[in-house]
Amino acid sequence: MKTGADMKIAGKTVCVFVLLAITKVTRTVGNNRVSVTVGKSSVLACPPKSNMTMVTWKISPKAGGPCTLGYRADQNKTDRTNCSDSMNWKSRPDWDPALEIRQVGIAFEGNYTCEVVATEGNFHKMYHLTVLVPPRLTVYCDNHGNPVCKAAAGKPPARVSWVLESNSTPEEEGHDNGTVTVLRKFTAYSTNMTNTTCIVSHPAGTWSKSIACHLSGNNAIFKYAFIILCFLSVITFTAVIYYFKLHRDRLCHRTKPPEIAPTHSPQDDTMEVEPYTTYVQKENVIYNSVSDLTVGQNLPQGLSPAT
Ligand SMILES: *[C@@H]1O[C@H](CO)[C@@H](O)[C@H](O)[C@H]1NC(C)=O
Ligand SMILES: *[C@@H]1O[C@H](CO)[C@@H](O)[C@H](O)[C@H]1NC(C)=O
Ligand SMILES: *[C@@H]1O[C@H](CO)[C@@H](O)[C@H](O)[C@H]1NC(C)=O
Ligand SMILES: *[C@@H]1O[C@H](CO)[C@@H](O)[C@H](O)[C@H]1NC(C)=O
Ligand SMILES: *[C@@H]1O[C@H](CO)[C@@H](O)[C@H](O)[C@H]1NC(C)=O
Repeated sequence: MKTGADMKIAGKTVCVFVLLAITKVTRTVGNNRVSVTVGKSSVLACPPKSNMTMVTWKISPKAGGPCTLGYRADQNKTDRTNCSDSMNWKSRPDWDPALEIRQVGIAFEGNYTCEVVATEGNFHKMYHLTVLVPPRLTVYCDNHGNPVCKAAAGKPPARVSWVLESNSTPEEEGHDNGTVTVLRKFTAYSTNMTNTTCIVSHPAGTWSKSIACHLSGNNAIFKYAFIILCFLSVITFTAVIYYFKLHRDRLCHRTKPPEIAPTHSPQDDTMEVEPYTTYVQKENVIYNSVSDLTVGQNLPQGLSPAT
């Protein structure tokens, strides 16, 4: 009985030992967040171990299928499945199994895991790659004379603010590729301000731009000027039309008699021609009938219509 209990205890300790061994063997070296600006390069390190037998980079992007990059030390061979040409070993994987990504695109965002099999155990290191897209900053005046600041197509969305306090709320517009355009007006604009400055903060950098807008009062003057101009042009247009109408009536009276003569003459010509042609046709019919009766049998048929 005592030996049985001992056996049980021994079994349990073995189990615990094995579990400890497993946890020791598959150690995660860390879960890192890496941010890269679109178009730039990035190197993801993988801790080199002595006596590595195998290294595998498992890449699962947010968009698209997974890809792997592997190295086997026993065969000194590398292989790749479905990985973009932009992803490759930084140097020789038997020396340094780091991964290099050149010209990072938005589609490269995702999880990158390096798995190492070595005599001292298995290791893996995971990275979460985030791609930053710097926004394009523009400032302009809207048609009410308010300054507007626009941070176009940034990822993540940029933080847009004005140097002077403005109670406006930023408007966001998302795009299909994951970028966001942020728009913010400057509303507390008064006559004595000449310049307002917009500040755009983003993980990829900080930018600022100043602008001076014409006030809405000036705009109103332009509006009235435009309306008056429209009114004046309409009046001139109607006056011109009226003038031409008067003028044309007078011209018509003068030119009508000579216009009538040429329009009638071609009709007269046809009138003159037509009876003649009918007459000729009739003549022919008579002649043909006569020739048929008299000499039609002696002459070849081709000659009769020619005459
Ligand atoms: C690596 O392998 C060599 C021989 O193959 C051995 O002598 C050395 O002890 C091993 N090192 C480790 C850390 O396992
Ligand atoms: C990346 O890993 C995290 C957990 O660490 C997971 O929640 C997420 O879904 C993974 N993303 C992809 C694209 O595999
Ligand atoms: C492994 O292969 C590379 C070329 O692919 C070669 O330069 C290197 O010497 C090889 N290493 C061993 C240990 O055979
Ligand atoms: C690689 O991509 C092809 C099609 O693009 C797919 O059929 C195949 O399953 C992928 N392989 C792996 C290992 O994901
Ligand atoms: C504009 O004028 C107001 C008072 O009319 C004044 O309090 C404010 O400081 C002025 N702002 C600037 C930028 O000069």
